Amino acid sequence: MAFPPAFLDELVTRNPIEDVVGQYVNLTKKGNNLFGLCPFHGEKTASFSVAVDKQIYYCFGCHKGGGVVNFIMEIENLTYPDSVRFLAKRAGLEVPEDEKYQSRYRQNERLWALCKDAARFFHEQLMSEAGKPCREYIIKRGYNKQTVTRFGFGYAPNDWSKMTDALHEKGYRWEEMLEAGLVVKSEKNGKFYDRFRNRLMVPIIDLRGNIIGFGGRVLDDSKPKYLNSPETPIFNKRKNLFALNTAKKTKFDMLILCEGYMDAIALHQYGFDCAVASLGTSLTEEQATLMSKYTSKVVLTYDGDEAGQNATKRAIPILEKAGLQVKVLRMQGAKDPDEFLKKYGADRFRLLLEQCENQAEYRLESLKRKYDFNSDEQRVEFLRQAAMLVSSFTSAVEREIYGNRAAEAAGVTPEAMKLEIGKAYKKRKAIERKAQEKQDLSPATQQQPKIRSIRYDNLRSAMAEEGLLQMLIKAPELFEKTGTLTENAFSAPVLGKAYRILNENYSSFGTVSATSLESELSADEMSHISAIMQKKDLIVSEKAFADYLKIIRDEAEKRNGGADLLAMRERMKDKKSYGG
Ligand code: GTP
Ligand code: MN
Repeated sequence: MAFPPAFLDELVTRNPIEDVVGQYVNLTKKGNNLFGLCPFHGEKTASFSVAVDKQIYYCFGCHKGGGVVNFIMEIENLTYPDSVRFLAKRAGLEVPEDEKYQSRYRQNERLWALCKDAARFFHEQLMSEAGKPCREYIIKRGYNKQTVTRFGFGYAPNDWSKMTDALHEKGYRWEEMLEAGLVVKSEKNGKFYDRFRNRLMVPIIDLRGNIIGFGGRVLDDSKPKYLNSPETPIFNKRKNLFALNTAKKTKFDMLILCEGYMDAIALHQYGFDCAVASLGTSLTEEQATLMSKYTSKVVLTYDGDEAGQNATKRAIPILEKAGLQVKVLRMQGAKDPDEFLKKYGADRFRLLLEQCENQAEYRLESLKRKYDFNSDEQRVEFLRQAAMLVSSFTSAVEREIYGNRAAEAAGVTPEAMKLEIGKAYKKRKAIERKAQEKQDLSPATQQQPKIRSIRYDNLRSAMAEEGLLQMLIKAPELFEKTGTLTENAFSAPVLGKAYRILNENYSSFGTVSATSLESELSADEMSHISAIMQKKDLIVSEKAFADYLKIIRDEAEKRNGGADLLAMRERMKDKKSYGG
């Protein structure tokens, strides 16, 4: 939905970017800007800037940028409208919402409240006389008191209606409980009964802190071992990860991904507060993207059995596709992290974490599968590719181990393999060096946007467009002098779009602000505009402004002229074929 501009204006006025960012980042003044350590990429020197006058942020390291709403979108992982709502709440503003949204939101709020009350009920049950067997089970498994409260453990009593009755008493309707997945409707007599009975209950919490579902484990060996909430309007298994709500604040520079939520809980108890778990389904692209918002490195600690290893193989490409660096932690002497920690303790696990392999094994194995080792030709090709792969490993130990393994597979001596790897290493370095030099030296690359998804087709025009926009933002009254210039004259679509939005802004309000751009531009586009706004201060001069305008118009004419010429030629061709 679109929010009224006057509301957005009030919203950003009441949420100064320096205050909002200041809640997440320590900022210190340096020149005209505030600087701090970027919350979006790991760094030791502050390259994250906030421009109070322009009300934007921009990181000179990772090139993310935007206004205050973009900042919240990025850091809280929210959509644009939800970020607006987040900031409205922060400033005590009422959001003008449309009917449809309001009713859906009210419904969700009701389900969140219901799940919260259910969690309270389960927790009370756990602490009551009825919860004794469950408390004993928790102790037997080694979860401590802190874990019980931190994760909000509970107990679903061995009864068909105790929970339902208690919540009904509180004013919730059966249909609502059905919708939240807490009760089941009997097909025989249409009666409602509790879904979870005689189980240890673990609430599943989303990134905003709402309880959205439950996982329930039996206290013995009966089946099914786990019973989880079904999909509901507030619980989407593909889009949520267990414990990410706390793991997102971890000091570790990675996330540990495990198969079961009991494993994630054990890891947290032993100090690894960066552990998350998928929710009983195999890892999805959405979950990988979600993780990539908070980290660049994921350590996979799936179970050691065949199913776990297959799940690992499936997860790796999904994580890599989301831009994540993947490592695989393998355990010996225990089937999963929970068991391992209880048997060997945190220090041993930390050791494994430090040593864990970066999917080297997996990659070498996939390479092996591609070749037929009965053919000499293919063996040679395998060796070449394997040498290339192994030469990319940063650890000498890894190069040694996997080099030997490749040699063995291809039936050559380790020495021969070492030679190949050495050659591959030199070749790789030379290629990298050349590419870097080429990039560093070319002025055209220097002027290209730092964000890869945006490329300038016409650098001459784009530079003028950037300059023009910079001046317009600094001195909006120059909009009076742009004459008939429209979005279409811009060679770079993103700059044209920004120009149009700012122009509309200026004609309605007589000012321009980053806020109006945030609702229409994508995150990458917004980052790019912020980069332009944070470039070296440009002196506004009418002469330069007029020059920019002329360049933009000339280049546009060339493009359109070109198009006209082409069209003319097409027409000629047509005539020929019809006339002849
Ligand atoms: P325990 O240590 O025995 O409690 O289990 P675990 O943490 O080792 O989990 P396991 O590897 O057996 O399963 C991993 C995940 O798969 C669990 O967290 C559940 O989400 C899911 N899962 C396992 N068993 C069942 C089941 O019987 N039904 C459902 N729906 N999910 C299950
Ligand atoms: Mn287990």
